Amino acid sequence: MLIHTDSKTEHYIHLEELHNAHNYHPLPVVLERGEGVLVWDIEGRQYYDCLSAYSAVNQGHCHPRIIKALTEQAQKLTLTSRAFHNNLLGAYAEFITNYFGYDKVLPMNTGVEGGETAIKLCRKWAYEVKGIEPDKAKILFAKDNFWGRTLAAVSSSTDPKSYTHFGPFMPGFEIIDYNSITALENALKDPNVAGFMVEPIQGEAGVVVPDEGYLKKVSELCKKHNVLFIADEVQTGIARTGKMLACDHEGVRPDILILGKALSGGVLPVSAVLCDNFIMDVIKPGEHGSTFGGNPLACAVAMEALKVVKDENLPENAEKMGQIFRQRLSAIQSKHVSTVRGKGLLNAIVIEPYGDGKTAYNICLKMMEKGLLAKQTHDHIIRFAPPLTINEEQVHACCDIIEQTILEETAA
Ligand SMILES: Cc1ncc(COP(=O)(O)O)c(C=O)c1O
Repeated sequence: MLIHTDSKTEHYIHLEELHNAHNYHPLPVVLERGEGVLVWDIEGRQYYDCLSAYSAVNQGHCHPRIIKALTEQAQKLTLTSRAFHNNLLGAYAEFITNYFGYDKVLPMNTGVEGGETAIKLCRKWAYEVKGIEPDKAKILFAKDNFWGRTLAAVSSSTDPKSYTHFGPFMPGFEIIDYNSITALENALKDPNVAGFMVEPIQGEAGVVVPDEGYLKKVSELCKKHNVLFIADEVQTGIARTGKMLACDHEGVRPDILILGKALSGGVLPVSAVLCDNFIMDVIKPGEHGSTFGGNPLACAVAMEALKVVKDENLPENAEKMGQIFRQRLSAIQSKHVSTVRGKGLLNAIVIEPYGDGKTAYNICLKMMEKGLLAKQTHDHIIRFAPPLTINEEQVHACCDIIEQTILEETAA
């Protein structure tokens, strides 16, 4: 359905529909420019970005310092492959391992490659260090997890849209309930379990926040059973939830940490897997890698993007602005808003069905008309994840639009 009937918007959408795979169902808006928390469409209309490219643009669109690092490095050297050394990889590795407190990093590009890398590390560690018999290692995942679209990722998915007709699937994966310590305890009785890969807050599932104490208990149980606790912080990491890592809320340190998205401030695909030597040293030359992973452009951008997070106190701002956001959302007087949940600036509302079969998508369309972009996840959940540079006035402006839209849409 097209809301904007402007010819330019229609033209660009039509071009995509004709020549691009129909693997997404975007809102009918064509963006051409972004700055901070704002984006502009091809017609010149301004919007608050309440998605931040699924939490990749935490530092705000086109952050001047990150773009400066990008353009300066782009004029010197962009890619060497790992066949040769480059003068930034060592500095970046030192910087990011100090920043997050791990011995070593393995640089990749997309978030899903980070997940793949973590699982390969975990399996190899299981055979070579823990002593599991060849090909018997199991990795646990939580129900409703989302970590991307590769065959390994969809093999661990419980969403039929993700896995249907993509089999056969990866063996050695087991699904347990999220936020259930009993489920984890039961699964850990199997001595072939090598790792548990889990999102500290499930993003794509609809910003599902586990009970307080869950992550702490996960960490303890994994330690007790000599099983690696793998935290997928691709969406929750880098200040999104009001701390540098969502795991920091419970003071737990995963054995393997996966980061992506905002690691580059949304400028180019940069992901990283961090762990200590006793795990990372199982990987030898030729056993894992990527043409682009660790390229000098990515190293320069990621270092600047991480510096911006600290220099601009983004964890603190996310925490403060998130409190206001949730307060405002919780105060919306509509029987169709059943839940408001989240941490920091990763929040969601659950919309009960209204009107004649209308869903959260209809509300997203209306918010778009009023100048705010957000996207539903599943049919009934809307996630709000603006850039972490958002200020109080902008939070209120966003919440005014959200409140007004929900009240207008669900009245009657
Ligand atoms: C928690 C989590 N892990 C991994 C990924 C995959 O990241 P990418 O799309 O960069 O491969 C996502 C993407 O949304 C994610 O939310």
